[in-house]
Amino acid sequence: MQETSQSESSYTVPETAYTALGFYHKISQLRADTWNALKRDLGILVKLNDESRAKNLIKAIDVKLTRLEIIEDYHAFPSKEDFRHLWSLFDRDEYVLLEKVVKRLVRALISESYRRRHVDLSDSDANAEDLETLDALAQLRRGHPASNSAAQPYFELLIVDNLSPQEEEVVREAFRNMRRPEDKFVYDVVTVRSFEDALIAVLVNPNIQACLIRYEFPYKSKYNLSALRNYLEGLSEKELENQTEAERSILLSSMIHELRPEIDQFLVTSGDVEATASRDIRYFNRIFYRETDYIEQHHTILRAIDNRYRTPFFDALREYSKKPTGVFHAMPISRGKSVTRSHWAGQMIDFYGINIFLAETSATSGGLDSLLQPYGPIKKAQEYAARAFGARQSFFVTNGTSTANKIVVQALVKPRDIVLVDRDCHKSHHYGMVLAGAHVSYLDSYPLHDYSMYGAVPLHDIKKTLLGYKRSGQLHKVKMLLLTNCTFDGVVYNVRRVMEECLAIKPDLVFLWDEAWFAFASFNPTYRPRTAMNAARTLRERYRSDKYREEYAAWKAEFDELDPDDDATWLERRLMPDPDQVRIRAYATHSTHKTLTSLRQGSMIHVFDQDYRQKVEAPFHEAYMTHTSTSPNYQIVASLDVGRMQAEMEGFELVHAQVEAALSLREQLYSHPLLQKYFRVLKNKDMVPAEYRESGVESYYDPVTGWNKMEEAWARDEFVVDPSRITIAIGATGVDGDTFKNEFLMNKYGIQINKTSRNTVLFMTNIGTTRGSIAYLLDVLIKLAKEFDNLWEDSSRPERKIIENRVHSLTQELPPLPDFSRFHDAFRPDAESATPEGDIRRAYFLSYDEENTEYLRFDNGELQGQMRAGRDVVSASFVIPYPPGFPVLVPGQVVSEGILHFLQALDVTEIHGYRPELGLLVFTEEALSEPPDS
Ligand SMILES: Cc1ncc(COP(=O)(O)O)c(C=O)c1O
Repeated sequence: MQETSQSESSYTVPETAYTALGFYHKISQLRADTWNALKRDLGILVKLNDESRAKNLIKAIDVKLTRLEIIEDYHAFPSKEDFRHLWSLFDRDEYVLLEKVVKRLVRALISESYRRRHVDLSDSDANAEDLETLDALAQLRRGHPASNSAAQPYFELLIVDNLSPQEEEVVREAFRNMRRPEDKFVYDVVTVRSFEDALIAVLVNPNIQACLIRYEFPYKSKYNLSALRNYLEGLSEKELENQTEAERSILLSSMIHELRPEIDQFLVTSGDVEATASRDIRYFNRIFYRETDYIEQHHTILRAIDNRYRTPFFDALREYSKKPTGVFHAMPISRGKSVTRSHWAGQMIDFYGINIFLAETSATSGGLDSLLQPYGPIKKAQEYAARAFGARQSFFVTNGTSTANKIVVQALVKPRDIVLVDRDCHKSHHYGMVLAGAHVSYLDSYPLHDYSMYGAVPLHDIKKTLLGYKRSGQLHKVKMLLLTNCTFDGVVYNVRRVMEECLAIKPDLVFLWDEAWFAFASFNPTYRPRTAMNAARTLRERYRSDKYREEYAAWKAEFDELDPDDDATWLERRLMPDPDQVRIRAYATHSTHKTLTSLRQGSMIHVFDQDYRQKVEAPFHEAYMTHTSTSPNYQIVASLDVGRMQAEMEGFELVHAQVEAALSLREQLYSHPLLQKYFRVLKNKDMVPAEYRESGVESYYDPVTGWNKMEEAWARDEFVVDPSRITIAIGATGVDGDTFKNEFLMNKYGIQINKTSRNTVLFMTNIGTTRGSIAYLLDVLIKLAKEFDNLWEDSSRPERKIIENRVHSLTQELPPLPDFSRFHDAFRPDAESATPEGDIRRAYFLSYDEENTEYLRFDNGELQGQMRAGRDVVSASFVIPYPPGFPVLVPGQVVSEGILHFLQALDVTEIHGYRPELGLLVFTEEALSEPPDS
């Protein structure tokens, strides 16, 4: 049957739906699919005898060629010259030859042979054709494109200049003639003629790594570029038409930088070079005066690319591994010594190869840098990481973000500082609070009761909490706001807005954004503005500008007219921070290993803190020392270095492909009748309530216009959903999330996922997800849907009743998610205060003395009885059910009816901190009545 076929064609692009560049999110799939379809059409045409069918096919071929010409206008291969050749064959009805040429072209695109050598499509020699076939074969044998490991990596240089086709060929040839075998990289040239075309080129062509902006070019493209709508907002065409050459070039460079900050940009000007140089030309690496200075330009471009391509620590480690060394150090495995001659452990070498052992070393064995006190290649590698992620400082962490989080908290928070924390954050934060002795003020995320999961913390609630501290005269004690962005389920904050408004209440508030799941976001223009580092940099620039001062003065005059004692004054309006007081202090922690290339546990801390040098550097160092092993794993450090390089070179392409794959999966799940019966993908509207969706966008997808709504929602809404994380509600299957994950996906089909709720499963795509893996997943889901269909059909009446009951339970009987109740007064620094913070550390350590705690069971009504009798039952430990994986109770928290109800209704087997045969560990009433200092 059609549904079960696992072929890629099961999700080929519906032709009518795609309006070429309007579908920029799926542009590379569209490109590949259209070339393949063209090849197929031509293959049929050359064998066809039926004239009227042939006529229709020729029309379809014309449409495809036209569409492809638009896309290929922004790529170096096939070139414009190549396209002229294709059209001339088409116009002369030479379909047999056209088919041959298209076949070669498709093969060259698939094998990526154009990256390694010049592919001349006008050469009809059979040998040339064979070359493509051989390349494709070689690639198949290797299992990956040869360019990945080629001696000379390939990239494309974008030239923006209003050139005629002939001039264009001259420039292209001139750069080609610069190539030398000893060059580290090889590149080809793409030329565009207008401002808009330059932007579209950097969006659709990930091969572009450098851009040369030359002389006068018009603003408008000859194409209708709807994909640019969101990027061009606020630009008036009239104004642009009146700009000088220099102004327009500078504006273009800033916009290219916004889309793809990694691209190296150069300006060629014929005008007054000194006057241009005195303007704000920060996004240009260099200005050239004469356009014909090709040698200089060539070398400058190669040097710039090399600056990103370098991997200082990985290189140093490889060099080290080649040196002969005698090991008289506590590392028997170094250089493979303990295993190469082993009678028993040799399989380790067989499995890993020798290099991993040759590279085993330590800071104290000399030769390489020290992670604890970097001065050489690690320091350099960290500086490059800061550049890549837009941070001022970056630090590598070899024990995951669990450790990165604790380092940041310890570096910034003193005992008794108040920290606002989202309650369903990762457990490392709760433990970090215990270690730091922070007074914790928990914030509740909005609940998604129907799916047993949380969203994120509304800005209104954060402001309200801060306002409470302001009104009680304790705002000075509030040090940090700690939030998870994005959440495990993919809910993403409007980071800039949160920082802006919180800073208006507390101008020196420190932000720790746990971006464990979001390292990849820095490499996509839609995601990037919602990262901590990007928001911090943008705000820093905004607040130091005169324009902001004016805006602020106007806002303040209006604000001062209002009643400051009325909460609505603060909560119902958008607040603006005072530019004379505000300090931008943002930290982000990344599990690089979760979303980019890195060995497990490779994480990074990124810093954008105006006060770092003055106030944080020393405590940060101490905190780093506290949590970092004196024997850090250098393979992890090297992988972080390579991961950074890869992200800077091809992060844009990889993230784009990831999103593309996820959108394909979503599209199928939205539209396939059998899949829809059992699996419902949660859309933006399902995970973000309407009040947080100012744009009104319910789903990024529309069957006719495609995925065009995503940018709109991401630009405006308080929360958005990351479409690359796909949550599917499976209640209709009658199987709970945990069982579905283990018994259906893992045991039957070897599909791994790592997050479920009672009635949902989360499929995460990543930069390694291929179209093939999406096709496999779809195939599995279709098979499972059929199994559920068969099960129902073959069941007896009582069996059907059982299934119905299960479905009902999973879709209708969901225990409401409990809010954080409160800290018991015994753990509140000021029991009289209306503010909610608690001394979690005191509660945590109070439980170390056995006589302070007892167990109370709730399955036999014992605990409920005590509560009814008026006792405040207070947890003495963390209680963390998996799923959902956040603590429903923390030490010092009062057990509420809601929490008990939730715990009773949970049908998971894994609840950390709770032993059913004993009950909950709670504080005795005596322990709670002891004064805090005893
Ligand atoms: C939000 C969040 N922060 C931190 C971590 C810990 O990261 P790591 O596994 O790198 O220690 C996780 C792990 O799942 C997480 O989900």
